[in-house]
Amino acid sequence: MAYNETEFDTGSHWLPFTPNRHFRKEPRVFVAASGMHFTTHDGRQVIDGISSLWCVGAGHARAPINEAIKKQLDTLDYGTTFQATNDRAFEAADMITALAPGDLDKVLFCNSGSEAVDTALKLALAYHRARGEGHRNVFIGRERGYHGVGFGGISVGGIPANRKAYGTSMLPRVDHMRFIHDPAQAAYIHGEEPVWKDDPLLELEQRILPLHDPSNVAAVIVEPVAGSAGWYLPPKGYLQRLREICDKHGILLVFDEVITGFGRMGTNFAADFYGVVPDMLTFAKCVTNGVIPLGGVICRGKLYDQMMKTDAPEHMVEFFHGYTYSGHPVACAAAVATLKLYKEENLFARAGDMGKVLGDAFHATFKGLPNVVGIRSLGCAAAVELAPIAGAPGKRAYDIFIDCYKRGALVRPAGDVIVIAPPYIVEKPHIEQLVDTLAGSIRKH
Ligand SMILES: Cc1ncc(COP(=O)(O)O)c(C=O)c1O
Repeated sequence: MAYNETEFDTGSHWLPFTPNRHFRKEPRVFVAASGMHFTTHDGRQVIDGISSLWCVGAGHARAPINEAIKKQLDTLDYGTTFQATNDRAFEAADMITALAPGDLDKVLFCNSGSEAVDTALKLALAYHRARGEGHRNVFIGRERGYHGVGFGGISVGGIPANRKAYGTSMLPRVDHMRFIHDPAQAAYIHGEEPVWKDDPLLELEQRILPLHDPSNVAAVIVEPVAGSAGWYLPPKGYLQRLREICDKHGILLVFDEVITGFGRMGTNFAADFYGVVPDMLTFAKCVTNGVIPLGGVICRGKLYDQMMKTDAPEHMVEFFHGYTYSGHPVACAAAVATLKLYKEENLFARAGDMGKVLGDAFHATFKGLPNVVGIRSLGCAAAVELAPIAGAPGKRAYDIFIDCYKRGALVRPAGDVIVIAPPYIVEKPHIEQLVDTLAGSIRKH
């Protein structure tokens, strides 16, 4: 029996990262989905302009993925992955490392991006300790970085609202690099990499590393493209130089590819797009097309090898870390089917191609509209930045999000930025609908 829709405003469900008070006045509830569209509780069709938070690359309700899940449920529903494991976890890990660049060839599974980040941070500390450098315990993140909601993730993350209530509970030895946006020089980015006049990494080299001493730094973690903050692109050469600086000082480089992984940039990973191989790469979204939670860390073989090089007896665990559902067979079956589908339909290349169509539409439609102060497009995502309403930061974008939803389009507000990041199966008429709906809302607000 369907849930009584008159109760959406009073029910027990406390929504994550949502203004719940406003939601209860105007509930937005999905009851079905197919392809590019949702059906809502009030019987409307809403186009999914954000791949349901960057997860649904192949579009909703894809039969090969659903069939694989059903088959797995009837074969091996679940089995512990501590001290024993399942065949699907091996298969999924091998498919994932086959897609990963360089010598990123071992996978630690978990269930979400937040867990992936915490796993990477813990592995960085454990790895340095195993090689006799346990004093390396400083982490460096970046302002406005989003690395999930675990204590590790909010510590290296740089979104003030996610951090401000948690004070001394965050990790103690963390610093942050400056953000990578230059509104004066690079407000409008159309497919290209922004070129900066000054070097944004001088601060890391000349202030942050000397302050902590580079020999104490365990890892630098960045999103190659800052997704949650509102699709901010790194300056040309930035990630290459970050790699060089980390190499020079024996610091691990972690790319948080929870958003950019599995096709969003038109390549397997952003690491491929930028030609830079990190020491660890975190992933979660798009790996199962959103249908079942799965995340993980792909690490270079040298990390695994170091952790195995221990004098401890062979019955001892080498890395005291893992989640009950790490490598869940049903999630891994979903990943295997999803990755096959992406390949069969050549969806990563399609994401790159349709991203160009999206970017063209953004720049042609939004430039010059009231309150538009920036537009950024690269890969299969684009953002329009709006001037905030005086005294009410975030309200303009939120109001536009609500208005778009009422008019049949799901878009993503991030501060005063609106992002569109459609499933890779998106077609031109979908892009036109999304952009026209958004333009109408921007004009009204
Ligand atoms: C770059 C990045 N890291 C980590 C996370 C956290 O992922 P999850 O919400 O699955 O914990 C996100 C989520 O958006 C993300 O964008």
